[in-house]
Amino acid sequence: MSAEQPPFRVGLLGHGTVGAAFEELLAGRAEEIERFNGRRPMISGVLTRSQGDFEEILAGCDLLVELMGGLEPARSYLLAAIAAGKDVVTANKQLLSQHGEELFESARERGVRLRFEAAVAGVVPVVRVLEESLSATPIERIHGIVNGTTNYILSEMEKGSTYAEALAEAQSRGFAEADPSDDVTGRDAAAKMAILARLSFGSPVHLDEVRYEGIEHLQLDDLEYARELGLGLKLVGTAERRDGGLSVSVHPTFLYAGHPLASISGPFNAVTVESGGITEITMSGPGAGGPQTANAVLGDVVSVMTGGARPPAPPLPLTLVTDVQSAFYLHLDVADQPGVLAGVTKVLGEHDVSIRSVVQRGTGEGARLVMVTHPVLESGLAHAVEQLAAFDFVRSAPRTIRVIEEEFL
Ligand code: HSE
Repeated sequence: MSAEQPPFRVGLLGHGTVGAAFEELLAGRAEEIERFNGRRPMISGVLTRSQGDFEEILAGCDLLVELMGGLEPARSYLLAAIAAGKDVVTANKQLLSQHGEELFESARERGVRLRFEAAVAGVVPVVRVLEESLSATPIERIHGIVNGTTNYILSEMEKGSTYAEALAEAQSRGFAEADPSDDVTGRDAAAKMAILARLSFGSPVHLDEVRYEGIEHLQLDDLEYARELGLGLKLVGTAERRDGGLSVSVHPTFLYAGHPLASISGPFNAVTVESGGITEITMSGPGAGGPQTANAVLGDVVSVMTGGARPPAPPLPLTLVTDVQSAFYLHLDVADQPGVLAGVTKVLGEHDVSIRSVVQRGTGEGARLVMVTHPVLESGLAHAVEQLAAFDFVRSAPRTIRVIEEEFL
């Protein structure tokens, strides 16, 4: 630990919520990092929209941290840094989910480190665990609550806030993206699931290949009915091996109380990793917020300084499977007359849809018929729902939401 060692120079691109928090955190932790590493990290240059010169910052740094977000110029800057032989750290999930292979390939060819812990689930160390701790484990499935904004909105709505109030609060607390439609449409979570799928299965997954839906169209009464059935609602990403291929998706999903993701609330994120050899591991913690995310970025910087990380592995492409089995919640608004329940169950039976539980409630002139199915192929349920929608006694479009059955009690 010689005091004569030169400082470790960090070039910083971007000075928004996370960038500013990272600069402050690094200044506060520099002495401690020098104590165990021998070199003191320091910010050698900052590029913002109005100040700084990229070429100068690149030439004057040992490692480049990209926290600007967006595809360009972030992509070009990272490629230039890699080409110059510099290690890089980024939190850019949109970039990695759309141009990850190009970046991984360049980093591999040039032999530099590309670290991105903060791109998925904020400070929850899921990237490092998948890359290192579980690198010898054949992963079967990952479930994740990987968007803090939507989890915060759903938690607040359960407590009585409106959707608009909860979203405004998430924005003011720095959880939401610059364009919050990325959060509420599920696109932000989809980008993170694409990255997790690449890490878990070695197969390149582009954001465009992830099927996703968000929380904007949820109906409050679905939440109320589901509570009667013992279910809670989360925006859940799933990446899993299916039929020799791979399925990656994000959907609003009901969970029974015993599932490890069921208790994750507020801006917290959690990722559950399943494999025969390990049963199940769940990691959870703050998934959004400047200071929290900055900790993950600084952890990556220290990892590079100490040589703790390895270059990205080469791709191992798998087929993407889109028609997968799931249990479903099914909501039907029906006329209250003889033969309705028999008609519904006949159609479901014809499509191999088996009912796990059912609730019926009269509404005066009609009835709400709400049921949870056992696992069924999505295409089978879709055909059944199409037939149900055509009945005269079904008075509005049937609604379906996925249910995860495991409770890990
Ligand atoms: N907008 C993101 C979220 C920030 O709410 O999770 C962290 O990626």
